[in-house]
Amino acid sequence: MKAIPGGIIAPTDVIGRDQLIARLWSILDGQSLVLTAERRMGKTTVIRKMTAEPVESLRAVYMDVERVNSPTELVERTAQAIGGHLGRSNQARRWLEDLWSALGGTEFAGVLKLPDAKGLPWKTALERLLGGLAAHANPRVALIWDEFPWALQKIARAEREAVVVDLLDTLRGLRQMHPSLRLVFTGSIGLHHVLVGLQDRGWVHSPINDMRAVEIPPLAPPDAVHLALELVRGERLDGADATAAAELIARELDGVPYYIQHVAAKLADAGQAASPGAASRIIQDALTDPDDPWQLEHYRSRLTSYYGPTSAAARALLDQLATHGLLTPGDLHEALKLDFQPDNDTARALCGPDREPLRRLLKLMQRDHYLTQDASGRLGFRFPLIRRWWRLDLGLGPLPPADDPVRAD
Ligand SMILES: Nc1ncnc2c1ncn2[C@@H]1O[C@H](COP(=O)(O)OP(=O)(O)O)[C@@H](O)[C@H]1O
Ligand SMILES: [Mg+2]
Repeated sequence: MKAIPGGIIAPTDVIGRDQLIARLWSILDGQSLVLTAERRMGKTTVIRKMTAEPVESLRAVYMDVERVNSPTELVERTAQAIGGHLGRSNQARRWLEDLWSALGGTEFAGVLKLPDAKGLPWKTALERLLGGLAAHANPRVALIWDEFPWALQKIARAEREAVVVDLLDTLRGLRQMHPSLRLVFTGSIGLHHVLVGLQDRGWVHSPINDMRAVEIPPLAPPDAVHLALELVRGERLDGADATAAAELIARELDGVPYYIQHVAAKLADAGQAASPGAASRIIQDALTDPDDPWQLEHYRSRLTSYYGPTSAAARALLDQLATHGLLTPGDLHEALKLDFQPDNDTARALCGPDREPLRRLLKLMQRDHYLTQDASGRLGFRFPLIRRWWRLDLGLGPLPPADDPVRAD
């Protein structure tokens, strides 16, 4: 198997996801899904494999909705994807053609469009499209909308927030009215960023609480080692040290498949036989390279859009945890009071006597995969690799081995 960091992986080359995928199909048998995960964890890879390898009772139709700007576009692209799935000559296909002409839609060179008259009832179109899909598709279809939260944020900006509320409500209503309809929402931005914003601004709202949320975790350690070894062998870089190298790669990269692919690609670029030393140098270089080949800077730059007026406080909390490892919420509160200078009222509230604002921020940072909490309530970086990068960035240097969860275990 060749290294393809960031590329599309052939379904048969997807490592370590069989059990998860079987579980997802089993859940989908009963309800719709929200798939969450840190970026690069392999969400798209998992859902592409599900699309390529359907089960008997369900088919998956994959759509990347990143470029969708309006509910109308969502309907058009969904109709298009469903049309592609249904093929040319069956009853279900005729249903779609009849529906499209009843809605006044057109097809030109295979592209489906709805009339762009103002006030077009996209809601009616969506209801008839998804309702019809639930009634006509045999076997049933799970519609997968990848990068859906991103599309919702764009719709909120391009149209109005009320349109997003309306869209989410309509989809919820459809799931209730058609028990066989299956939707899968996924994307690198958590859906909670859209929902918390709506709730904060007074839209009392729980539009996805009928859907099951499942997190796609990093690869389990044996699978991460297996992936590293397969790549090293596929690139013909294996020698006496290959297994030790694969173990180091899997461990230091927290089982994140994207980084594992990157290290294998770098070894291949250098034509270097895999050894723990060579792998370790490549990882170190990636963490300090000013060109940031793994786009780690993203963990820092996205704080502003994720946490708005509290983003500087979130950064200060991560600085504390990078320095000290595990801390209780109480420790973090004290640290903010001592070291952090808030420049707005929302941030000031984090340092005040009420712990609730800090508790809310820490919960969000857990949902965004920055933090994890241990059994005794202490918080720390979710991924040791990101802590290591954060420390290097702050100029704190490497961790003493006893304080380094990666090496201590
Ligand atoms: N199970 C896997 N086996 C092998 N490589 C994987 C696997 N999952 C992800 N990858 C690698 O990681 C990259 C990023 O995965 P992707 O599915 O695009 O992540 P996400 O959608 O979560 O951002 C892929 O291009 C591939 O190189
Ligand atoms: Mg993706």
